Amino acid sequence: MSSLPEASLPHRSTSAPLSDGELRKLKLRLIDRMQRRFGGDFPDGDWDLLERRLQEQHQLLFQSFYQLYGDRFDSFYHLEELMAVVFRSVLERPAELKAFDALRESDKDWYLAPRLMGAMCYVDLFAGTLRNLEAKIPYLIELGITYLHLMPIYKVHSTDCDGGYAVSDYRTINPRFGTMEDLEHLATQLRRHGISLVLDFVFNHTSDEHQWAQRALNGERDYQDYYLFFKDRVLPDQYERTLVEVFPEEHPGAFTYQTALGQWVWTTFYTSQWDLNYRNPEVLVRMLDELLFLANRGVEIVRLDAIAFIWKELGTNCQNLPQAHTIVSVLNAATQIAAPAVVFKSEAIVHPDEVRTYIHRAECVLSYNPELMALLWESLATRNIRTLLASVRKRFPLPDGCVWVNYIRSHDDIGWSITDEEIREAGYDPVAHRRFLTQFYTGRVEGSFAEGVPFQENSSTGDARVSGTCASLAGLGKAIRNQDPVEIDLAIGRVLLLYGVVMTIGGIPLIYLGDEIGSLNDERYLDDPLRKADSRWIHRPQFPWEQMQEVADHDTPAARIHDGILKLGIIRRQNLALRPGKTEFVGTGNDHVLGYFRTHAQASVLILANFTEQVEAVEGRILRGLGLRRTVIDQVSGMTISSGTTLELQPYQFMILDRQGSR
Ligand code: GLC
Repeated sequence: MSSLPEASLPHRSTSAPLSDGELRKLKLRLIDRMQRRFGGDFPDGDWDLLERRLQEQHQLLFQSFYQLYGDRFDSFYHLEELMAVVFRSVLERPAELKAFDALRESDKDWYLAPRLMGAMCYVDLFAGTLRNLEAKIPYLIELGITYLHLMPIYKVHSTDCDGGYAVSDYRTINPRFGTMEDLEHLATQLRRHGISLVLDFVFNHTSDEHQWAQRALNGERDYQDYYLFFKDRVLPDQYERTLVEVFPEEHPGAFTYQTALGQWVWTTFYTSQWDLNYRNPEVLVRMLDELLFLANRGVEIVRLDAIAFIWKELGTNCQNLPQAHTIVSVLNAATQIAAPAVVFKSEAIVHPDEVRTYIHRAECVLSYNPELMALLWESLATRNIRTLLASVRKRFPLPDGCVWVNYIRSHDDIGWSITDEEIREAGYDPVAHRRFLTQFYTGRVEGSFAEGVPFQENSSTGDARVSGTCASLAGLGKAIRNQDPVEIDLAIGRVLLLYGVVMTIGGIPLIYLGDEIGSLNDERYLDDPLRKADSRWIHRPQFPWEQMQEVADHDTPAARIHDGILKLGIIRRQNLALRPGKTEFVGTGNDHVLGYFRTHAQASVLILANFTEQVEAVEGRILRGLGLRRTVIDQVSGMTISSGTTLELQPYQFMILDRQGSR
């Protein structure tokens, strides 16, 4: 193994990419350094494996790293430290996970498999503790769940924990949930049952109780450089000229004054969440260490929280900057070397065009689909699918090897992340339309069925987002209170319509646990002084295990929603046409009825979804033009349909019609 003189290692400006020769030298040099530091500790097989993976990833890793830090005199030192983190984490990786890595490496696109179906929950609200959650695995299996996202489970800020997103220690489990051993045990149990564990990596910020923040507060300059401090308002004022406020109700702007230091610190979200300074390579290296620690606990999908915000640049809105992508590429390449069983999911709740930029093999192969989520609610409110259709036609297809995570509700609010362009295309004014949607879902529009509440209302712009559970936004709460059987049917129809779409449109459907039994808004958060200012708690109710008897009783709304979702899951698993493949959106000749084909190999289905409480017609001529045979069975209702005549879809009816062997 040759050793290279330091002088030949590249120090360069951020614009110039490394040449092949430089890349090769860097690689050899780093292997040499790692050999000296850890060589004796690795069995030969592992060493060969590492060299192979490094060979695959080094270009992306080094180019990205040098793009960020290449102009620093100490860039090689930091790259070496980063590599040491990777190698050390491989040394510490449990044997069972290493075996799992090998399995995943032989099936790289495992997350595209049709069996993938997601659920998300808060550990305490769903099961109490990590140990108790193990007892719920049979429930998850019955639902068909193979991907489980646990909301952040780490040690959090003592008062302002933002539902777990103000992390004080990435290596300690919130004692209310259990211990690190419990997490590892659960991860193993899930894996053995074919359920992939999904955990957050909250990497835009730490809580101000994290030891790095505490050391910064104690005056340690090195740690102050982990965050973004400003001694006066000059720069914060300049930044705020172009920044968008994220939590305007919580605090105006993006900075919080730290009396102890007499300085301002960057806080995009809550004041207790300090944004990390990725201009400092040490931050990236240490955060990679935290990430790989998590990977070694058995997580399979890492949700990159608030990915869009991690790099700041004066004169911009400090979202989706190229460096944010470069950072994710470094993390991804390093993870593929250290723990290739792990893939990333992007949480970018930004402009739809920007959401897509994180989705490719070098960054995140999975991504939330916030646009589809918003559009489904939009279509329910407007009773037409014009905006939805204009958007999905353009933006639904993803690059090879990537997949959407399609959801109706998450733990967060609903923001109207729909483009102005498509709102206009559908014939509305963007500002007025978004305002209408918020008003509609907060029940301020005459005739609205929804019972949501506003979140982060911006008093200066009038903008707001919406909180509320799926069933409450679909009108179930109101209908039950009014004991109105027709409205109850309609509300159930809405929930099953939306779930019908996310289960069949292509991608991984994600159920917010509780939605499947029609959980309603829970206003008790208003009695909790630590939660009452954050309306998102209204849609985070305790899972009502004691009411599960209702689910067994097939006449209740809970039971009907549960059965409907279960059935959709079964259809999804059994129908060949719903395997990963093409989704083609088609015109149905009716603005209220969404239509799309799902096609896989020789199998194809036409899916129809009526977004209104009226009976809606699709003409037989159109059905035949869409390739339907003369008679065909709707897989959802089991009824026989004739394409010889006009098809009438009942209120909110959702149909899956076979096109196989058509015409
Ligand atoms: C993400 C989370 C959200 C949290 C924010 C700040 O958007 O989903 O719940 O408040 O990040 O961490």
